[in-house]
Amino acid sequence: MQTVTSIKKAKNGTPLTVITAYDSLFASIFNKKIDMILVGDSLNMSFNNKPDTLSATLEIMIYHTNAVCKGAPDTFTICDMPFGTYTDEKMALKNASRVYQETDAHAVKIEGGVERAHIIKALTCNSIAVMGHIGLMPQHVRSEGGYKVRGKTEEDTLELIEDAKAVEKAGAFAIVIEGVKADAAKRISESVNIPTIGIGAGKDTDGQVLVWSDMLGFFQEFQPKFVKQYLDGSEIVKKAVDEYVKDVQSRAFPTKEHTY
Ligand code: KIV
Repeated sequence: MQTVTSIKKAKNGTPLTVITAYDSLFASIFNKKIDMILVGDSLNMSFNNKPDTLSATLEIMIYHTNAVCKGAPDTFTICDMPFGTYTDEKMALKNASRVYQETDAHAVKIEGGVERAHIIKALTCNSIAVMGHIGLMPQHVRSEGGYKVRGKTEEDTLELIEDAKAVEKAGAFAIVIEGVKADAAKRISESVNIPTIGIGAGKDTDGQVLVWSDMLGFFQEFQPKFVKQYLDGSEIVKKAVDEYVKDVQSRAFPTKEHTY
């Protein structure tokens, strides 16, 4: 099982594998297969059909993190701190401490660069492991008027490099880089000594993360360019459900085999 120490050592090594999970069942399937499981606040969209992540609460994240930790006890697990739960050091410490005390999560994740470094420091100084998250930050969707790919200009790339350095200096053990042009993400990765985990950030980060329902083809409404779909989950499940309905209606199920 990965630890903060082994994850840090993975810098420039075999890419780290990260997948989101929100429930015990899927977490148990991913357990021991993947380096880290992220209980992302993306669950608000993929599990709750909300338009963005902003209405996820700490209670919701704690509930799902507990489920994931139960299903994947042998996998390093990270709980996403939801919007509005880390606006100052005191609040962040109180809420991240609740994650440690009420779940078995190994770390929390926080969105933000230079402007949030003091929050990350407040947590890491108090023995809470933090994964940073820079680039396209979904919790900023309303304030920024949409999801915007970053690192398109030299100025923006330099800003992101400063973000990554600040997050590293504040004590984070790894950084998610989301929605950043591949060349910029490569330069960001090269500018820090902790692993970078990319999502929509090209191939030159120290690892990759995907949302499980995108990767397994369960989220059909929208397929981002950066997602590779490894399974046509929705279609497979729909076919199985159609067959079940047909069997029940024709009394082909249950047979003797399924009967006491
Ligand atoms: O909430 C989430 O799933 C995330 C990943 C997209 C990195 O933050």
